[in-house]
Formats: sequence, structure tokens, C-alpha cells
Amino acid sequence: MTNAESSRRGFLTFLADLLMAAIALIVAVPAVGYLLAPLRRKAGADDGATAFLDAGPLADFPVGQWRLGALEVVQEDGWKKTRVRHSIWVLRASPVASSPGEPTQGITVLSTICPHLGCPINWHPDPSEFICPCHGGVFSKEGRHTSGPPPRNMDPLEFEVRDGRLWVRWQDFKIGVAERIPVSV
Ligand code: FES
Repeated sequence: MTNAESSRRGFLTFLADLLMAAIALIVAVPAVGYLLAPLRRKAGADDGATAFLDAGPLADFPVGQWRLGALEVVQEDGWKKTRVRHSIWVLRASPVASSPGEPTQGITVLSTICPHLGCPINWHPDPSEFICPCHGGVFSKEGRHTSGPPPRNMDPLEFEVRDGRLWVRWQDFKIGVAERIPVSV
């Protein structure tokens, strides 16, 4: 074999190896992405579950009345975005101070999910109590369990007031148990 043939063969071998490496890369990148997708999904879900969500202007919640509010969680799964709505009960017991440092005074935010088996709890202005329609669980106007099967009080949610708007951190809790145990979405 001449030198020219030998170097041509070497070059062709190099090209073939390069081609194989490129093919391997093309196959490997989506496969690795597929394997890592659950981790990305988990991170996205956690972000959505722990972020404060805008529940609207405080002015929409009249003083002294329980008012139903809504939160929208956007869950991202790769390219797919899913919007999940949650309901909350909000009470402003007193006008909100405008000075920084005590803007959340007098506000209570409760989850609408019944701690018994997860039905939505309704507010009844007369006789001023929360009632779960599924099994007759009753809670006081502060959300304390007073009768029926629910094993604990209604679940309070964390909130902040920013520039006159109410921001609430949605949280799911384990149902059917006396202890308040946060669960991830
Ligand atoms: S789900 Fe509310 S009382 Fe059973």
C-alpha cells in the first residue's frame, strides 16, 4: 500500500468516526433530555406551589365580610403550560393600614378545601359559619372546627400585601388527619 493510499484510508476512517460521533450525539441529546425531564418538571411544580400569587386588589375584599378569591397557578411541563385555579376565603377585619410594616393587620386567608375529604367549604352569612356540603362539617366564622367529621380547623394560607394588592402562597395540606401537613403539588 502506497503512502497516498494509506493516508486516504486514514482520512476516510477519520471521517467515518466523525460521522458516527455526530450520529451518537444526535441520538443521545434527546435521550438525556427525556431522562432529565422529571427533574425539570419537579422543579417547575415546586416553584409554582411555593410562589406568592396575585389574588387582586385589596379593595375587592370588603371590610368585615368573608369574600371568595381566586388564585391561578401555572404549572409548566416542558413546552406544556397548565393553568390550575384555586379558591380562597379572605376576610379583612379592619381597614388596612397604608404604612409599611403593618399592612397585613386584620387579614385572614383560608383555604376553601375541607380538611376532612377535600370538598369546597361554603360561607353562610346567616348564621355566620362555614359549612362543608359533603358531610356537614361546620366551622366558626374564624375557621375553627365546631362540629362534624373534619379532623381540624380550616387551613390558613400565607399572604403578603404589596402595593395595595393581596398576594397569597397556595398550599395543599394532607386531608383526613388532625395535624396540618403540607403536601407538594
Ligand atoms: S369533606 Fe367536608 S365534611 Fe367531609
